[in-house]
Amino acid sequence: MARPDLLLRKPIADLVPEHEGDTGLKRSLGAGDLVLLAIGAVIGAGIFSTLGTAAVGETGVRLGAGPALPLSFLLLGGVCALAALCYAELAAMIPTAGSAYTYTYATLGELVAWIIGWDLILEFAVGNVAVAIAWGGYFNSMLSGFGLALPGWLSHGYYDVHAALNDTSGANYAAMKAIWDGAPRIGSLPVLLNVPAFAIVMMVTWLLMRGVKESARVNAIMVVIKLAVLALFIGVGIFHIDPVNYTPYFPNGWTGVHQGAAIAFFAYIGFDAISTAAEETRDPQRNLPRGILGGLAVCTVIYVVVAIVATGIVPYTQLKGADPLARAFEMAGLTNLSWIIAAGAVVSMAAVLLVFQYGQTRIFYVMSRDGLFPKWGAKVDAKTRTPRITTLLVGFIVAFFALFVDDDATYDLTNIGTLFAFALVCIGVLVLRIKEPNRHRPFKVPAVWFVTLGGAAACIYIMAGLPAHAWERFGIWLLVGIAVYYAYGFRHSVLRRGTGPRKEEVD
Ligand code: ALA
Repeated sequence: MARPDLLLRKPIADLVPEHEGDTGLKRSLGAGDLVLLAIGAVIGAGIFSTLGTAAVGETGVRLGAGPALPLSFLLLGGVCALAALCYAELAAMIPTAGSAYTYTYATLGELVAWIIGWDLILEFAVGNVAVAIAWGGYFNSMLSGFGLALPGWLSHGYYDVHAALNDTSGANYAAMKAIWDGAPRIGSLPVLLNVPAFAIVMMVTWLLMRGVKESARVNAIMVVIKLAVLALFIGVGIFHIDPVNYTPYFPNGWTGVHQGAAIAFFAYIGFDAISTAAEETRDPQRNLPRGILGGLAVCTVIYVVVAIVATGIVPYTQLKGADPLARAFEMAGLTNLSWIIAAGAVVSMAAVLLVFQYGQTRIFYVMSRDGLFPKWGAKVDAKTRTPRITTLLVGFIVAFFALFVDDDATYDLTNIGTLFAFALVCIGVLVLRIKEPNRHRPFKVPAVWFVTLGGAAACIYIMAGLPAHAWERFGIWLLVGIAVYYAYGFRHSVLRRGTGPRKEEVD
């Protein structure tokens, strides 16, 4: 008989392997490796693509920060630092896969854990739809560097073009109108498909199904390429800054900085993913917080400097579009370098796609193992040791949506969902401090009341900068999630039914 207690918590003792060798994982990562991992997972579509919308805004939807964009990135660095401290405490104490979902299961109970797991679909799967679209934008830029171009109707999704046509004053309105008018039609409906975005997701899925491991070396190569490309952008771009572009500095006041930050938040997503490396980290008490906070600090500095340069090279209003950094160089007459930026962005974003697709399948896998999703989700292929069905299903769904949807709306949904997860993780740290004050904490958040409550409040403040439609869609997403939980997880939960090995109740 399923138990009705929705606050049933998973005992931490069941989550943490008793001995270091129990998981078969080796503690080999130091703080430096973690910083590299963070850069690998974090730097991607956010800086290469959302930067444009964060600076310019969208007519009738949101204001942009204008040249004050670096302040948006600084603000986000502070907000994420509070959340990162909380992630570090939980990751060091509960070093298992599943990230925020697992932490919440142990702190706030099953229903909230389910909500977080459902919410993380927004971070990873929906986030990847956005990254795939941004990848497609830069892929097109790269092709044009070789004098090649796909037909517009095969390289832009329907809703993407549709959204651009609502913004008649937008920099790329004319180009989008031409694509819309020139597309083949089914009845009166234009056929507009983002084929590159679809194809890259299917390729990443295929790699993951073959059992590709994110090895530290492959990641390090990707990180070097990312950093080299951004260094090129900064190193060359700095000499093309025209101070005139910085006036007015606050075209939309603080509201612009706030609403710009709410979309640029996408650039920071991913540092939480390295918390899943907790079991493979040497001396996690010291190295985990250093790695998480160090990675965040490096990314913040890079983002602030890139934003200063990008808004200095061209009038910020010209940055709108899927490939603002390449476009800024092109407009500054640096056409040859523009395609190098585009090629670097393509590599950087492919790495993010791989890590996120991997993260989504891992969380789905853990939730299936807990009985909150069907059992087949936790099935591992004997030969490749990967959850093949889950990987294929997630890949196909992400690729399918990437064919049609609008990137800005997708970023919004990902951001609101991830910020909500961060806020719950902050609260979870405080709850666990109160409920289990004597539990061993390899790393402790300093000034716990300030960091946890301040972190949760800061996340909610950034969420408030997102447009109303993001809140509506997020609300619908959560309601659907709760309905799915009652229809399935509530009755099948391994913990609730007491059918699995983890049936001990904590409270
Ligand atoms: N932070 C990741 C990116 O910007 C999601 O692509």
